[in-house]
Order: sequence, then structure tokens, then C-alpha cells
Amino acid sequence: MIPYEKKSHPSPLISAVAEKFPMIKVITYIIGLFDPYGIDHSERVAILSVEIGKRMNLTDDQLEELELAALLHDIGKLGIPESIRAKPGALTEAEYSLMQQHTIISKKILERMNGGISPNVHAGVLHHHERWDGSGYPYGLIGDTIPIYSQIIGIADSFDAITHTRGYRLAAQYDHAVKQMVFEQNNTVIFSPEPFRHFLEIKVEKHV
Ligand SMILES: [Fe+2]
Repeated sequence: MIPYEKKSHPSPLISAVAEKFPMIKVITYIIGLFDPYGIDHSERVAILSVEIGKRMNLTDDQLEELELAALLHDIGKLGIPESIRAKPGALTEAEYSLMQQHTIISKKILERMNGGISPNVHAGVLHHHERWDGSGYPYGLIGDTIPIYSQIIGIADSFDAITHTRGYRLAAQYDHAVKQMVFEQNNTVIFSPEPFRHFLEIKVEKHV
């Protein structure tokens, strides 16, 4: 069971990561100014991603990269107009297409930071919306061609989005969320089986 609570800012997690990557406090502060929901979401995704990563026996260095990638996975949304990013309703096809660009913008921002952030983190961020069956974006990667950090973050990101109220969509309870993730898209397996199996071992205590 893992704690899944709302954090104060800067949270202990961000403070800990900032010891190695001092810019993280500035970045998360900026994200918080634009999108307060986004920073809480990113922290919960980081907590859950690391929990999955531990169960997959990732090394400490890998867990650190995974945590950083999860914290920064949606930073590119700063480049998406607020009218689309915070639209209280379903996106049109054109808006959705623009929204998908946030993955590429996230990677471009990280590349420009030039702060010793591993290319593994860049890749983890770029591909966090790829799906196991190739139905994701931005490149439609399939199966194990998707970087492992992205496979994990994709699961944590989806679970967190489904279990929290956002825009026109109400939060789902744990059981409903898992069912939705298993059977989404006509029963196709869209999440990486191994991290998803470990995710199912984790009983998330509380969704805030
Ligand atoms: Fe995203």
C-alpha cells in the first residue's frame, strides 16, 4: 500500500530531487503557476512510477531517472494554449492533434536545459503516451521498442488521470479505473504487461 496524498509545495519529493537537479524547483514552480493540477498530478505519477519500478528491480540510478522523467513528463503542456490544455470538454480532432505535441515539446525543453539530464529521461518523457499495441503517440511505437520508463509512466499517468476529476470527466474509483485500463480500446492490451502486472500488485491507498 502506498501513500497517495496531496503534497505541500515544494513537496518532500521535489526537495529531494532538487538536491541533485536544483532546477527542478524552478521548473515545478513555473508549472504550478500555469497549471496547479498538473504539478500535483506529476508528483503522484512519480510516486506510483517509482513504486512500479522498485517492483521491477530497477537500480537506484534507474529509479532516479524514472522519477525525474515522471515529474517532468508533461512539462511540454506549457507550450499548449490554455484554451485547449484546460478546455472543460472534449477536444476536437484538431485540438487533440495539437495537444499530442506536448510530448515533443517536453523533450525539446529538456534538451535545452542542458543540465546533465540523461537522454534516458528525455526518451522517457517523449514516449509516455506510446501504447503497447502501437495505438499511442507521437510515433506509434510498439511493445518493447517503447522505452521502459515510458511504459511505466504511461500506466501511472493513465491511472492518475482516470482516478481524478478533470474538466468534464469525474474521478473513477480504483476498481473501475483498473477495469477501464484493462479493457480500454476493444480489449487490446495497450499497457506493457510486465509493469502493468506490478502495478496491479500495488493497492493505492487513497486518491486525492
Ligand atoms: Fe502527457
